[in-house]
Amino acid sequence: MANTILVGAQWGDEGKGKIIDVLTEEADVVVRSQGGNNAGHTVIVKGQKYVLHLVPSGVLRKGVKNVISNGVVVDPVSLVGEIEGLRKLGVKVDGSLFLSETAHLVLPYHRELDGAREMLKGKNKIGTTKRGIGPAYGDKAARVGLRVADLVNPERFEAKLKARVKENNEVLKALGAKPLSFKEIHAAYRKAGDYLKPFVTNTVVLLHQALQKGEAMLFEGAQGTFLDIDHGTYPFVTSSNTTAGGACTGSGVPPHRIDRVVGVLKAYTTRVGEGPLPTENAEISDMLHAMGREFGATTGRARRCGWFDAVATRHAQMVNGIDDLAITNVDGLDTTETIKVCIAYRDGKKRYDYLPTDVEVLARCEPVYAEFEGWLQPLDKIRSWDKMPAKAKAYLKAIAELTGARLSIVSVGPGREQTMFL
Ligand code: IMP
Repeated sequence: MANTILVGAQWGDEGKGKIIDVLTEEADVVVRSQGGNNAGHTVIVKGQKYVLHLVPSGVLRKGVKNVISNGVVVDPVSLVGEIEGLRKLGVKVDGSLFLSETAHLVLPYHRELDGAREMLKGKNKIGTTKRGIGPAYGDKAARVGLRVADLVNPERFEAKLKARVKENNEVLKALGAKPLSFKEIHAAYRKAGDYLKPFVTNTVVLLHQALQKGEAMLFEGAQGTFLDIDHGTYPFVTSSNTTAGGACTGSGVPPHRIDRVVGVLKAYTTRVGEGPLPTENAEISDMLHAMGREFGATTGRARRCGWFDAVATRHAQMVNGIDDLAITNVDGLDTTETIKVCIAYRDGKKRYDYLPTDVEVLARCEPVYAEFEGWLQPLDKIRSWDKMPAKAKAYLKAIAELTGARLSIVSVGPGREQTMFL
């Protein structure tokens, strides 16, 4: 396998966890390079469900190195909980999980600030996961963040944390929130620091040694293109670069060592949290929720759903340089008679073939639809492309063509075996 970046080509929750799991079969190293425990990747192996938030999905395969690199923001207490959960399920992490010394920490005041700012925004809230992601990246950019290297250095951690808790308590009070106890945070984080110490290393050097040995790397993107801090529907975005470029800055692996970008998309569109979603549709939302689908892995929130938006995915192809497409959740449309696909947006007389940059314009845009006949039969037991109904093939080929990339993987259910390669 070539060095591959895998990105979400929509608003997150595209089913990346499952595709990553399938691709890890050929990977030697799996890297998380952005985001934090706002992500939730669901992987089902032999009927056992694993929900991963910070730990790369390669942990479920023997012999794969799993790297949480510099671009990730790490809540150490949450990471310890995740590792413990995996150990209980018999998953081995020792010697296969590596944590960057320069990854920034998410601290309790980040979570409190996240919640307090959302409250203040009222109806203009972002709808964050309240995991403290925005404030943690904010501290990183403001150069006042604490990093993993600080966490595992007791004296330095204590001094830095004291100063940060003091300052943030003033901010929290000003926002009408309760101040936090330094002592409690210190005790919990030091305990987590001791637990995590064996995993901590210089991951840039580790990754370059792997490159020298010709090991195959898979960069596991979290969230999706339109949640990217630069290319998403700002301000209704997360605080990291979820697009392909983020994999390089977030890991220290240079761009010219990347061979391929795989974009993951659902056969329809979903989004959690606030912000525009041009093809949102109550009927398709109700249908998918009634099937028990489209509830968030991290927060359990019902996702907003809509028709496939080819304007968005075409834009995602452009920004990420997507070569190959993996289309997931195709079976979600099994009972739909007429399937719509958005091929352009209209704002009054103006037509858009790419996403307008102004989020207020995007919110006003009306989708222009093409229609496809549904296949009206269950796909979940189909195991090869040749056996797919002609109408499903026509639909998938059309959305790949409209997106502008090669159709390579089709998924008709959560299991590893429900995956077809073209
Ligand atoms: P934050 O990342 O918690 O700050 O949330 C910012 C926005 O990104 C909100 O709309 C969240 O719902 C969304 N978001 C964050 N992480 C994910 C994810 O893993 N999947 C889907 N949406 C996400």
